[in-house]
Amino acid sequence: MMTIQKCVDTLRSAKQISILTGAGVSKESGIPTFRDALDGLWARFDPRQLATPQAFQKDPKLVWDFYEYRRALMRPAEPNAGHFALAALQRRFPTLRIITQNVDDLHERAGSDDVIRLHGNIARNKCSADCQGSPTRVDVSQLTWDKASGPPPCPYCGRLVRPDVVWFGEMLPRDELDRALDLARRSDVMLVVGTSGMVSPSAEMPYLVKDHGGVVIEVNPETTPITRIATLHLQGASGVVLPEVVAALDTAQ
Ligand code: OAD
Repeated sequence: MMTIQKCVDTLRSAKQISILTGAGVSKESGIPTFRDALDGLWARFDPRQLATPQAFQKDPKLVWDFYEYRRALMRPAEPNAGHFALAALQRRFPTLRIITQNVDDLHERAGSDDVIRLHGNIARNKCSADCQGSPTRVDVSQLTWDKASGPPPCPYCGRLVRPDVVWFGEMLPRDELDRALDLARRSDVMLVVGTSGMVSPSAEMPYLVKDHGGVVIEVNPETTPITRIATLHLQGASGVVLPEVVAALDTAQ
């Protein structure tokens, strides 16, 4: 495929490569993307009704159960060929860094290092008041409480424990966002994989690369608002396309 070779040539001549990933990269691991119809019990809810501080304030048990449902979906998930291909790219380009919007840990489990996590990690929890400082992480596996009642009380202050993820309307972790913005501004190539490009500030990253003359390459079965500024659109599933890029990279130069 011509565009694969063009992608490889662009990667080879790059000085600083960054990757922005979204839920699409974990789809082939069996984790529904964010805007897919949520199956079963949650189909009648709009995630924006659940992933917000207001929703948690109003009905902490509903929001906690929603995350317990998503954690149960994620627990058996394994990294897919797309995650492994991105880890392989980082081994070939050691300064390459991944910026992810995903809250699963599949990049790390596939061997990627130093992942910049803009939206937190669904496997972790924290005090909803960050009573010991931001974030006040809480390991709920060490706690006993009536699980039918919803989230446990914080062992330090007694207020409710919540998932350590960014909710709609919340600020992103400052240090992670600063790292991502700095990387995007220094990147001359950004691979954008499996994101609808709908949620800022994550979706702004490719525009920062473009603004200083960098190249944006998109990997997605669909077109998105980012397609418009992409030099290349590799149409397809990341678990198929990314291994092809790595294979082409490894053939004789
Ligand atoms: P979305 O569900 O908005 O978009 C998923 C993208 O992945 C779509 O563009 C799909 O076309 C694409 N896709 C589907 N299958 C794919 C595959 N096999 N390979 C590659 N791409 C595939 O998910 P995100 O863009 O990640 O924020 O959503 C961004 C944020 O919106 C999430 O992090 C979440 C949500 O609000 C928070 O929770 C704060």
